[in-house]
Amino acid sequence: MNQPKRYLITSALTYANGPLHIGHLAGANLTADIFARTMRNLGKEVLYVGGSDEHGAAITIKALKEGLTPRQIIDKYHAQFEEAFRRIGISFDIYHRTSEPIHHQTSQDFFRTLYRKGEFIEKETEQFYDPKAKMFLADRYIKGTCPKCGYEAAYGDQCEKCGSDLSPTELINPVSTLTGEKPVLRKTKHWYFPLNKHEVWLRQWINEGILDGKKVHDPRTWKNHVIGQCNSWLNEGLQARAMTRDLDWGVDVPPEIPGAEGKKLYVWMDAPIGYISASKQWAIDHGKSWERFWKDEGTALIHFIGKDNIVFHAIIFPALLKAEGSFILPANVPANQFLNLEGDKISTSRNWAIWLNDYLESMPGKEDVLRFYLTRIMPEQRDSEFTWKGYQEANETELVNNLGNFINRVLVLVNKYYGGEVPDFDPNVQLTSSAGEDQISFQDAELLLVFDKLQEMVNAIRRFEFRAALRTLMEISSMGNQFLQFNAPWQAYKTQPELAAAVLNTGIQIVTALSVAMEPFMPFSSAKLREMLRLPAVAGRGELQDILDALAEGRLLLEPGHQIGPARHLFERIPDEVIEAQRAKLVKTAPAQAAEYPPLKPQIQYDDFARLDVRTGTIVKAEKMKKADKLLVLEVDLGFERRTIVSGIAQQFKPEEIIGRRVLVLVNLAPRKLRGVESNGMILMAEDGEGRLHFVSADTDDGWPVS
Ligand code: 2FM
Ligand code: ZN
Repeated sequence: MNQPKRYLITSALTYANGPLHIGHLAGANLTADIFARTMRNLGKEVLYVGGSDEHGAAITIKALKEGLTPRQIIDKYHAQFEEAFRRIGISFDIYHRTSEPIHHQTSQDFFRTLYRKGEFIEKETEQFYDPKAKMFLADRYIKGTCPKCGYEAAYGDQCEKCGSDLSPTELINPVSTLTGEKPVLRKTKHWYFPLNKHEVWLRQWINEGILDGKKVHDPRTWKNHVIGQCNSWLNEGLQARAMTRDLDWGVDVPPEIPGAEGKKLYVWMDAPIGYISASKQWAIDHGKSWERFWKDEGTALIHFIGKDNIVFHAIIFPALLKAEGSFILPANVPANQFLNLEGDKISTSRNWAIWLNDYLESMPGKEDVLRFYLTRIMPEQRDSEFTWKGYQEANETELVNNLGNFINRVLVLVNKYYGGEVPDFDPNVQLTSSAGEDQISFQDAELLLVFDKLQEMVNAIRRFEFRAALRTLMEISSMGNQFLQFNAPWQAYKTQPELAAAVLNTGIQIVTALSVAMEPFMPFSSAKLREMLRLPAVAGRGELQDILDALAEGRLLLEPGHQIGPARHLFERIPDEVIEAQRAKLVKTAPAQAAEYPPLKPQIQYDDFARLDVRTGTIVKAEKMKKADKLLVLEVDLGFERRTIVSGIAQQFKPEEIIGRRVLVLVNLAPRKLRGVESNGMILMAEDGEGRLHFVSADTDDGWPVS
């Protein structure tokens, strides 16, 4: 198959429910960015889309926990993500979001088309409903005992202890995590996508790259673990999947469909459609066609994701696209495995992560070092591990001592001997070089090696082998270092000036090639180097292809006489103290501890608060309410009047103990009769972690408002 001319590249949309960490980069973003930048540098037409995934239970849970609305949560994270991705150099053509109206419309249209084509089955099933919260519960909102291993806090969709996939009805003693109530089963109707109907063609498409009798991709370029995971799903037999949910946050089921009320699209249906709506927005912004990228067979659609997203991108979304009928399917789904950190899984809830924002703030100017190290350890075929020590060492041995050193030596020498002008030289100088004793000039021999390496690098990137590609890039600078060492222009300059000129001219050609070749991996350092070379920054307009063409034709990359600027170091050693300080930030927090605090209530406005009239008062009389264990009848002096207030504190306070106690009273609470006694207000109490009550008080005179 020919190389595609056009690429549509996607990074898994990031859930807007927690800050970005290095796992997000290593999984779906850095990979896609390197690929997109390389293809642009090869002169391909590229559309690279990403964005925030703003629907789904994860967002609503987070909102409930923080006492905010989902909108407040997504706005906060979306803005953070956009900024952090920009600062670390992820070159999205558009970073979009699924809460935008254009996304809602696009998803609804997609759903409508499938509905009209009869691609869904309507099914009524029984699902858990929380009578107190008055809502159906997403699987994640239900906890209970795992039927497989007995773990008591398993979720309705998965047991985190034994890893089993569960359905909420399998849980023993299920409870709603929203209210702690026992949920009840209630009937509800949903639209299901019968994946089983698509099994046969999916199997052939994934394993042979054949779709409707046509070869559409080469399965040998798909990662083994991706094909393996797909086949294990296929072998277990695909099931119909509900594409809608009973939720109040998400994309509405198109309202004209009977029974749509209160139903939203399943987040895993709307999220991948987010790639389409992002493309549409990009097309509007730039006056281009999005359909060219989504509906033309000349496009290669590549989804960069983490391994937990494989089934959605390699099975479900392709099946939805095929059922819709007008879209191309992905040419590849290069999923990465997981990145661990210092011996443990990255975990947001346990604070075991390197947060991107923190890194950007505390390690300024080190964006490329992170990009470099993450690429070097990228979990392409198996899980891998980030360690701060490894980061420090990679920086030192590879960036400082190899790449940085080579570039610096060449630039310093060209400045020192030739006033920064690329030296002219005699192309026929025939001397031994690291490339061997050849009949062709040693510059040609050396640059031919660079050409081969660049091609090797590009081929590795085409195979999504970013680690190998980076290794090849570093081999070019190792070769350069050996070449300098071997020909020692600092000695030759005095005795054989024609040799020194030839060596340094060759050196600067290699440095120029590197300034372009390194750009996808280290765009910031590439820009700095291009500035030193007095060349425009790589802008993704075929610069790498130009270099390959020039080398293939024996043309120079930088002509003699070209004036370069002064040399500055691109990389520097990172001291132990800095590494230690970063490591010291890694402190695990126990999730159990955090979970003991009750969830926050939804946010209120100041006006809501101002409606409360809270005054100071003194308890002047207290007695037990007859036949009620918990209640005391109090008389409270507010200065301007005395009130009778019934308070549920009898189990902790004896009447005689609290007479004379100064308290805060909510005085405009509507009167309420308790056991026949009218209560006129409420005494404010605070409850601690052990359930003990404490009076809230203020040191001001009775009767004065406290706000
Ligand atoms: O797993 C995740 O983080 C999801 N937000 C990925 C969505 S990818 C795509 F479908 F949008
Ligand atoms: Zn279990």
